[in-house]
Amino acid sequence: MNTEKILVTSALPYANGPIHLGHLAGAYLPADIYVRYQRLKGKDIVYVCGSDEHGVAITITADKENKKPKEIIDRFHNQNLDSFRKFGMSFDIYSRTSTQVHHKTAREFFTAFYEAGLFREKNTLQLFDEKANKFLPDRYVEGICPNCGFEGARGDECENCSANYEQTALINPKSKLTGETPVLRESYHWFFPLDEFQKRLEEYVETASKKYHWKENVLNQVKSWFKDGLKERSVTRDLDWGVSLPLEEAKGKVLYVWFEAVLGYISATKELFESRGEPEKWKEYWQNPDTRYLAFIGKDNIVFHTIIFPAMLMAWNDNRPDQYILPENVPANEYLIFEGRKFSKSRGWGVYVGEFLEKFPADPLRYCLAANSPETKDASFYWKEFQMRNNSELADILGNFINRTLTFTSKNFEGAVPEAGKLEEIDREFIEIISKTPEIAGNLFEQYKVKDALTELMNLARAGNKYFNDSEPWKSVRTDKERCATTINLCIQAIYSLAILFEPVLPFSSERLLKILNAEKKGWDEASKLNLAAGHKLGKAEILFGKIEDKVIDEEIARFTEEPAAENVKLIEYDDFAKIDLRVAEIYSAERIKKSEKLLKLQVRIGKEKRQVVAGIAKFYDPETLVGKKIIIVANLKPAKLFGLESQGMVLAAEDSQGKLQLVELSPDTETSARVK
Ligand code: MF3
Ligand code: ZN
Repeated sequence: MNTEKILVTSALPYANGPIHLGHLAGAYLPADIYVRYQRLKGKDIVYVCGSDEHGVAITITADKENKKPKEIIDRFHNQNLDSFRKFGMSFDIYSRTSTQVHHKTAREFFTAFYEAGLFREKNTLQLFDEKANKFLPDRYVEGICPNCGFEGARGDECENCSANYEQTALINPKSKLTGETPVLRESYHWFFPLDEFQKRLEEYVETASKKYHWKENVLNQVKSWFKDGLKERSVTRDLDWGVSLPLEEAKGKVLYVWFEAVLGYISATKELFESRGEPEKWKEYWQNPDTRYLAFIGKDNIVFHTIIFPAMLMAWNDNRPDQYILPENVPANEYLIFEGRKFSKSRGWGVYVGEFLEKFPADPLRYCLAANSPETKDASFYWKEFQMRNNSELADILGNFINRTLTFTSKNFEGAVPEAGKLEEIDREFIEIISKTPEIAGNLFEQYKVKDALTELMNLARAGNKYFNDSEPWKSVRTDKERCATTINLCIQAIYSLAILFEPVLPFSSERLLKILNAEKKGWDEASKLNLAAGHKLGKAEILFGKIEDKVIDEEIARFTEEPAAENVKLIEYDDFAKIDLRVAEIYSAERIKKSEKLLKLQVRIGKEKRQVVAGIAKFYDPETLVGKKIIIVANLKPAKLFGLESQGMVLAAEDSQGKLQLVELSPDTETSARVK
């Protein structure tokens, strides 16, 4: 038999914190649904994932908690593994990048490139924290993004505009370790010549995206990278946590986390087949041109999976006989936010998966996240919507159809499938819907259109309710028992199909439903048929979807509408406050700054003194309207450089829950230079 092989990966989450609902909606649930669907289609599929356990994401958390990195990764690896299991993720393996096989695989890639003379090697200037006596790779520094002016941009990439840059380009860099301004110090590094791969990468993306219909959001990002021109990227870091380099002269250096993390997919697959006693079999997936490889990710990982990882695989293929396949598609989702705001660990905004599943079952969450999936644009999780989808869709439509049919069967047909009699128009129409739904929904899953597929599936349940209503079996049971039997037979057949078709989205309920039907799981295409023979005895009925009460949801909402800040506030002494010199100032000129969407250049007067202040309010004010306003500025802040402009102070503004800023304004007769206390 020639079954198609499919390899699916989901981005390896950092083991530096618990996963939240946003993670699920981005790279995990869509992949799991796809994988479960393809398994039902009978495909030979392998689905791998695991924890990303190196890099600065881990060591920063360890530093903060005063723990060893190993303690951090063990804790969160196990915690996330448990959350994923409870959520019904059907990974074939959930590995981790701290394993031996991973270190070995990563070094093999480095060695292959090294021996081929692919790397450029050179002394470079790196940011160094003199107080901590440490280099500050990647997230160890924060500053202002040289591309968009976002404050709090990381040393290697900007969360806001997803620009990548050398950390020396960061404006106003500050060490995350000590808060100090770092100095530049020389260090020797190895660079992957990504620029040399641009042409081939463009061809690869062009071909694959056309043939396999890449999502527009993915393609747009890739194209803008190509447009800017790919640049060489250093693949080594001055850090002691990570995969050490297989080179004598590279003591104290490790591989850049992204260079090795993407290879974690390969290592995990090796580990999987090793544990199954077939240590060579991973090659049938990774090194088989007939295997389809799909890499599911969130949008912040696009460049790594469409450009960097493919380039690494090309480079391997150029130099070694065993040839890796490249992703056929990289279906990336946009972001899921929470109650209209970004998830934020530090501000306690959001819900962790583990917490959520202590209170609610996994299936309604899977359903809600899938029905409102950030497929083409950002979406928000709302508690109210979760309740609504559970109560009025799962319980009132799907659950209701199942319940009323099964209750009726047990009451009037002794809990067995009654024999269908002569079919009428209404029956034939319903059978038509049952027989078409698998193909229609399947094609949508095939194209990663989970939302649309789900609508089709729910429509089958809706059609079931309508068929039940229109057929009025509660009447025909007395007047025409054969008619009634036909109706109920078809309703049970439809429920069986629903049990199969909803398996990818509602795996736990599907399993329970199959038990209730006393029937085996069948393949996807079987769901188009009428599978149950007359006389088939059903199992015991039970309610699949309980309703969620207002009270329960209101409690959850209340926990988030309170400002989380209050309890976290650290009290300060008056003296601390008194150190801040707040003064009334008058704006006498305001203009936009070229290339920055956020910043305005303000000239202010504090008494006789004139100052230039750069303020991040360009999105909220027209410069012209600002002239003459009396505002408050922090007058004793150390000057900073932004976009090459000196900023001699900071304006006070209130930030609302949407991130909108409003200047604190005083009445026009307030005297400038007055001290604010
Ligand atoms: N840990 C990364 C993140 O959470 C994702 C790594 S994906 C991999 O953003 F491909 F590198 F594994
Ligand atoms: Zn930016």
